[in-house]
Amino acid sequence: MADPARRVEALRRRLHEANHRYYVLDDPAIPDAEYDALLRELEALEAAHPELASGTSPTQRVGTTPSSAFAPVRHAVPMLSLANAFSDEEVADFVRRIEQGLDVRDPVFSVEPKLDGLALSLRYEDGRLVVAATRGDGATGEDVTANVRTIRSIPLELFGSGWPQVLEVRGEVFMPVAEFNAWNQRALAEGARPLANPRNGAAGSLRQLDPRVTAQRPLAFFAYGVGAVEGGKLPATHSQTLQRLADWGFPVCTENAVVRGLDGLLGYYRGIGARRPALPFDIDGVVYKLDDYAAQREMGFVSRAPRWAIAHKFPAQEQSTVLEAIDIQIGRTGAATPVARLQPVQVSGVVVTNATLHNADQIARLDVRIGDTVIVRRAGDVIPEIVRVVEERRPDGAEPWTMPSRCPVCGSEIVREEGQAVWRCSGELACPAQRKEAVRHFASRRAMDIEGLGDRLIEDLCDLGYVTEVGDLYALTLDDLVEMKRRVDAREAEAEGGMPAPRAKGKIATRWAENLLASVDRSRTTTLERFLFALGIEHVGESTAKALAAWFGSLETIRRLPWPLFKRVPDVGGEVARSLGHFFDQPGNQRVIDVLLERGVTPAEPGAPSPRAREGLDPATLLVDLEIPKVTRIRAEQIVAACGGGDSLATIGAPALEAGGVPSAVAAAFVQWRHEDAHASLLRACLAAQRDLLARIPEADALGARPLDGMTVVLTGSLSSMTREQAGERLEALGAKVSGSVSKKTGFVVAGEAAGSKLEKAQQLGIDVWDEARLLAFLDTHGG
Ligand code: IVH
Repeated sequence: MADPARRVEALRRRLHEANHRYYVLDDPAIPDAEYDALLRELEALEAAHPELASGTSPTQRVGTTPSSAFAPVRHAVPMLSLANAFSDEEVADFVRRIEQGLDVRDPVFSVEPKLDGLALSLRYEDGRLVVAATRGDGATGEDVTANVRTIRSIPLELFGSGWPQVLEVRGEVFMPVAEFNAWNQRALAEGARPLANPRNGAAGSLRQLDPRVTAQRPLAFFAYGVGAVEGGKLPATHSQTLQRLADWGFPVCTENAVVRGLDGLLGYYRGIGARRPALPFDIDGVVYKLDDYAAQREMGFVSRAPRWAIAHKFPAQEQSTVLEAIDIQIGRTGAATPVARLQPVQVSGVVVTNATLHNADQIARLDVRIGDTVIVRRAGDVIPEIVRVVEERRPDGAEPWTMPSRCPVCGSEIVREEGQAVWRCSGELACPAQRKEAVRHFASRRAMDIEGLGDRLIEDLCDLGYVTEVGDLYALTLDDLVEMKRRVDAREAEAEGGMPAPRAKGKIATRWAENLLASVDRSRTTTLERFLFALGIEHVGESTAKALAAWFGSLETIRRLPWPLFKRVPDVGGEVARSLGHFFDQPGNQRVIDVLLERGVTPAEPGAPSPRAREGLDPATLLVDLEIPKVTRIRAEQIVAACGGGDSLATIGAPALEAGGVPSAVAAAFVQWRHEDAHASLLRACLAAQRDLLARIPEADALGARPLDGMTVVLTGSLSSMTREQAGERLEALGAKVSGSVSKKTGFVVAGEAAGSKLEKAQQLGIDVWDEARLLAFLDTHGG
């Protein structure tokens, strides 16, 4: 090569640029492979020409040799801290002081999230990073340059032009929430110690003695200001300076804004507070800064904090309040969930009046009693929960809480099944609460999708007796709905002590009812899987419903099937199988299905069972699935052999079994089990159902084998040409089974943009990974 120095220069420029596009602009410029090739070329050149080495070369980002300690660095301009405001009043005082000090109204502020990480000062000389230091005591910090070089979004050399000869950039190092979670998941999986929180994660990572360790940590950085500036000028306002920093290659938070006056500040605070749980990084408040530098100088400082800026903090996410009552809520399957009624309290900007107590065990564990002062926590947008009791504040005479014996809605007994945490109202469909929940679930979007049938209507339809079970929805008439509405209006008017509100006349008055009837009618045409899901069978979610429909092919088969045969369906275990069996054993449930069918609900069915259903339809597997004491797989095979293939399973006696080689204890256990009438008839029913199924399963050839039959596929990341759901459906049409988790049995993984831990797992296990292009090509070739 003619001139290695020039090649090195060119390579560094390209790599810096690629890095900035990837980590700061989120707009990759070159493929990873090309980046790697360029980096390797640069490494080789630097090794061959040590005189060309540079601390700001992209090769330094992987972490250089460990340092022994962090040398002290004196900040050319001290790193100050901020005063805090915890209430609107304190913010109003802050604005008033500025308005009086500057004699202005509604001054302009730069407003920014207060990132919950670690402050950093980056010193650039002639556009190159020379020192990175922590805040320390504000005057002196620690040199963490080697570690900071590994943070990919921090420029080692500035972009563009016009930067001052000396420029200190101040900002926050932090660990994005998603990266923090992924990191901890991996740590837990590997038995390593997880990080306590993103802030500790960032701080701990920066203080690693070995920069190669820091390089592995997913750290990010946002610039929020400047320190020393020499040999050049910056714009006249803070917001323009931030823009300039972005031009020079620094990541600047896109949530920053410019507002005017107190209203502007509080509006920003509330807006970002509402979105806080959805932000990709942790914040503990917002920072308000006078935007105009001249105005900042005029306001000056008090002790170590500026008078021109303040941090408006979010209230703590835990608060104490008083537990006033514990109510019982009854769910669709009768589960009785205790709900805490609280004296209203603000937790992270939201008034909390209820908190979940999960179940009776949780209450016993916490020993929560009515009247207790409790600590309530709100984590993100999840339902608030009670963390603990402040025992010192327990009122005299507070009694331990016990689950009431009767359902608060229908008065039926509340019972607990053995070994279960859940208590249930035994009223089933006689319980109005369960009825309403059943209708709500039935009509929901992923079930029968009855548009317009919202909670309020369900409430009224059930309360006024128009609907007692889901089949009633299909008998509603326009007159019913209009009459119901009239009664509701009258009831409300009476409650308010006035005349019924004048009602719209004619068409408009009934339009809603016509629309509702039309969507009820539309829902008659549905699929078997939606129909099964809509029935609300305990433990039967969408994916189980789908698997059942595909496996057995028809509602008639499924609703008559003895429970052990449900276990043949992949992913259906004993508990789900029994729950299905229990549901279809109830005459009331069978009647509900009959009524739905009579009233024109027609679930589209595959018709025949899946060819795969043939697997496991042998008598030995059946014996195992019947969960007969002592009958393990090997014993089951011995029993079947002794019966000459299984034909006489229902009748063979112990002596014949023993003669056929079955150990006497096993033979005795089997015969004793079968001696019970219910067991004998279950066995016969299973044998008959197996025969029946076998006769109806088409030969795989007749159906035409599909290219992905028997293959399990996992989708991860986001695809650009379709949703994951759509991709899954198309793969299923080609015979694949779509699963949510990667294991050794996974056939291949389709990885879209921003694929995370599943992709990693697939790579670890050496499983084939497809990108979107390959998926599309495959679907194209196979007509999927
Ligand atoms: S400005 C003189 N802006 O909060 C102004 N600080 O007590 C100095 N922080 O240690 C800081 N986000 O680490 C500023 N957008 C932001 C910030 C921010 C987080 C931290 C910073 C500092 C502390 C202030």
